[in-house]
Amino acid sequence: MLLPIPPVPLDPAWYDAIRVRTSKRNFDCRAVSPEDAAALDSFIERFRPIPQVRIELVQNRGDDLFTGYVGSYGKIRGSRTAAVFVAPEGEEVAAGYVGEAFVLEAQRLGLGTCWVAGSYDRKRAASITALAPGERIASLTPVGYAVERAPADERLMRKVVRADARKPLSELAPGAGSDAWPLWATEAAEAARWAPTGGNGQPQRLRFEDGALVVGSTTRKYWTAPIDLGIVMLHAELGALHAGVRGEWEPAEAPDTARLVPKG
Ligand SMILES: Cc1cc2nc3c(=O)[nH]c(=O)nc-3n(C[C@H](O)[C@H](O)[C@H](O)COP(=O)(O)O)c2cc1C
Repeated sequence: MLLPIPPVPLDPAWYDAIRVRTSKRNFDCRAVSPEDAAALDSFIERFRPIPQVRIELVQNRGDDLFTGYVGSYGKIRGSRTAAVFVAPEGEEVAAGYVGEAFVLEAQRLGLGTCWVAGSYDRKRAASITALAPGERIASLTPVGYAVERAPADERLMRKVVRADARKPLSELAPGAGSDAWPLWATEAAEAARWAPTGGNGQPQRLRFEDGALVVGSTTRKYWTAPIDLGIVMLHAELGALHAGVRGEWEPAEAPDTARLVPKG
């Protein structure tokens, strides 16, 4: 992590959004309503903990931005709005943190999303995003109203990556839930457990040490790991907040990545 994640007010409603959010890949072709678009615009303007990381909301754009994994398999369909997460080169962790706040805010508003860092058309995405020198697209997401029942290929894809399952807490954060861990740290780890990650790989491991929740090195070098880390950090912070503890992120010595330290 290069840019620090400074303390910034988080909406406690995002905690509730964590457990109801799932990725949506099929939408009903409706444009995002003016009220919802205004709420998202206001979020984008307000939530700038890291000024170098920004979100562009692209309206009235067909789903041609998205590609399938293999052919049209797994493609996003029926979305007319996209949010593009833009960050300086190498700042994917910060993009994950800010992007996930957007995803949870969209969920709070009743809008579906899906992190897409791989299956999109890079040329098309770059053509709709005014990138300054040094900036790059870290990821994007469709935004819209998901169809009630996902079609067969989306359901199959969820099965393949076991999208509805998560690794047990005992594997991700050994000791969590025991007397050795304070409640806030266990809540933080549990919220982190539900973070979406690329291919549902869940590479981050957590431990409680010297009064802080430490995010250790990742278990594998999957290319989305830096974005995944930023997402996990936001979730952990929301979990701690839910247990009444305001935490702040401090850098950790390699191979660890970051420490959530209770403040006040
Ligand atoms: C950083 C990141 C990148 C992702 N990239 C893609 C992608 O390119 N295409 C896609 O269909 N899903 C993508 N996903 C969605 C994951 O497959 C999904 O989050 C995971 O399977 C867990 O399912 P859930 O989001 O429904 O909880 C990505 C997720 C993350 C966090």
